[in-house]
Amino acid sequence: MMDGIKNRIDALTKELNEHNYSYYVLSEPSISDYEFDQLLKELEELEIEHPELAHKNSPTKRVGGDITKRFETVTHRFPMLSLSNSYSKEEIADFEARVRKLVEGDIEFICELKYDGCAIGLTYENGELLRAVTRGDGTKGEDVTTNIRTINTIPLYLHGNYPKDFEIRGEVFLSLDRFRALNEKREEDGEPAYMNPRNTASGTLKLQDSAVVAERGLDCYLYSLHGKELPFSTHYEALSAAGSWGFKVPKEELRYIERTNSIEGIMEFIDYWDVERHKLPFEIDGIVIKVNSYYKQEELGYTAKSPRWAIAYKFKAEQLSTRLESITYQVGRTGAITPVANLSPILLAGTTVKRASLHNADQIEKLDLRVGDSVFVEKGGEIIPKVVGVDLSLRPEGAAITKYAELCPDCSTTLVRKEGEALHYCPNEYGCPTQITGKMEHFISRRAMDIDGIGSETVVQLYQQGLIQDIADIYAIKKEDLLPLERMAEKSADNLIKGVEASKQIPFERVLFALGIRYVGETVAKKLARHFGSIDNLCLAKFDELVEVAEIGNRIAESLIDYFSVERNRLLIERLKEFGLQLEVSEDESLSRSDKLKGKIIVVSGVFESLSRDELKQSIESNGGKVGSSVSGKTDYLLAGDKVGPSKLAKAEKLGVQLISEEEFLSMIG
Ligand code: IVH
Repeated sequence: MMDGIKNRIDALTKELNEHNYSYYVLSEPSISDYEFDQLLKELEELEIEHPELAHKNSPTKRVGGDITKRFETVTHRFPMLSLSNSYSKEEIADFEARVRKLVEGDIEFICELKYDGCAIGLTYENGELLRAVTRGDGTKGEDVTTNIRTINTIPLYLHGNYPKDFEIRGEVFLSLDRFRALNEKREEDGEPAYMNPRNTASGTLKLQDSAVVAERGLDCYLYSLHGKELPFSTHYEALSAAGSWGFKVPKEELRYIERTNSIEGIMEFIDYWDVERHKLPFEIDGIVIKVNSYYKQEELGYTAKSPRWAIAYKFKAEQLSTRLESITYQVGRTGAITPVANLSPILLAGTTVKRASLHNADQIEKLDLRVGDSVFVEKGGEIIPKVVGVDLSLRPEGAAITKYAELCPDCSTTLVRKEGEALHYCPNEYGCPTQITGKMEHFISRRAMDIDGIGSETVVQLYQQGLIQDIADIYAIKKEDLLPLERMAEKSADNLIKGVEASKQIPFERVLFALGIRYVGETVAKKLARHFGSIDNLCLAKFDELVEVAEIGNRIAESLIDYFSVERNRLLIERLKEFGLQLEVSEDESLSRSDKLKGKIIVVSGVFESLSRDELKQSIESNGGKVGSSVSGKTDYLLAGDKVGPSKLAKAEKLGVQLISEEEFLSMIG
């Protein structure tokens, strides 16, 4: 009996890993999503019943959930060296000539992309992932295996004819799409945007909660193989073989990797990517040129820090200079102040740039930016370009040192900046109009209370008319208050009242997010709601209890303590309770939870019969799935109702995303 179960677990683990490889590495799905789900579900159930038979590299680990409290330090078996960098083609020509002088015979070079992410060393034993270690100081790194297991393009088991024991190295990165989506979310949550995909990728690898890592959607390209007595004589051969074992290696047809015998070939590769890199879905910061033959690599040897058989050519970022006309300040709903550079318009990487982000006061001070300066503007992974430097030789005489804003641009309150924080804040939380209406706009927004029939303009109008002062007042609005408002017809007023009423069913985790507590974004709100179960428990939680929850750091804990220490906030919550909002996790919610949609991304579009769009989204999440906002290659299903969005439909058809009806969806979750 046990043997039968063990065999089934082994077979499912193997089969699911194969399907995963076909889907993510080859982009050729080998099974329908529904069938995949059924198999995964079967495996999950067997693993819950027989945890002792579960594999440490089970495909169920892809969605994360395991927590690492402390990352162990591990000594690298082979030191992780770096490459010598060059910024000019002359240096590349020197490298090529040097190599030719030092070794005899024909030399083949391999040109590769220099992925801009975070280096990782993956050890495999008997075809199974054993350990994943970051670069660290090159001698010792950190064991981040649990987080690495969530990266779909990294195989947990290998196939084909792999060596018994080897290490493979590569670069973990965040695609530009993922990076932008993450920053959009952060901005909405009142958190400072991440600076670039590279830092975000390395930060993500160090997160304690692997479920959050899984959500971020990291990716990985592999670039070198290490081991004793590997059966290859060239780097190219080794990488191709690694591809056949299941790793994501650069594709020759996309020109991500190229073989050449000549300096002209190398230069052509550099020129091609200097232009084309802007079209890549991820960031690269250069090109790597390597001697292909392992034997010749040995002959060339190493300097103290880097191999003599390879060199990196680093691109100069696309920069232009223009005049800084003025610096203005914006205040967000959490009171955070963002300085903005207003520029004399220029055309940069295909778009006209008039404004650039300056991040914070330190940035301005570090660059010593002054109005009238000629500044260098650069476009990175972000949509908004940034100011990266000043051409001091062009500084106009008498240009005044920039004095950072002292007063809020909206309510003129003196700004504050807490020790250790990057941003200035307007402390007039309950009096600054932009913050008040910003909080209301956040409260009613789609991802928060999703109140139909009320938009940002109506909120501002209601506030200006003195009809609402805080978010609780929204629940006290009466139809007769609304009718005298401009552009408010009977029907719109009815809709608004109906929308407000319906929002009382929104589950606790979203109400918590909707409150707009600084640093409490969607993910944090979910974690807190699940951990504490109710707003009352959360309100009573001590600092130590808060930071015990994975991913809740000092900053978030302090912000929560601050929030609940304000009497006004506690009164607001009491009022919301009286109005009947969900301020605890409902029994229903805990009962209707399942993992049936684990790992599935579902986009919801159209009008539905038995459930509202919101309820559908909620049930996707409470059954372990994720709600996607737009149809992409990663979407598993388009849950389509009546009047489904035509562009979503067309995209789903083009990408072969399966359409499901409300009925089918309901039967999927049982
Ligand atoms: S080969 C001896 N190939 O660049 C070093 N590295 O300074 C061998 N990198 O930390 C590295 N793309 O993380 C190699 N195609 C590529 C690469 C690459 C990015 C990173 C790597 C390393 C740094 C070298």
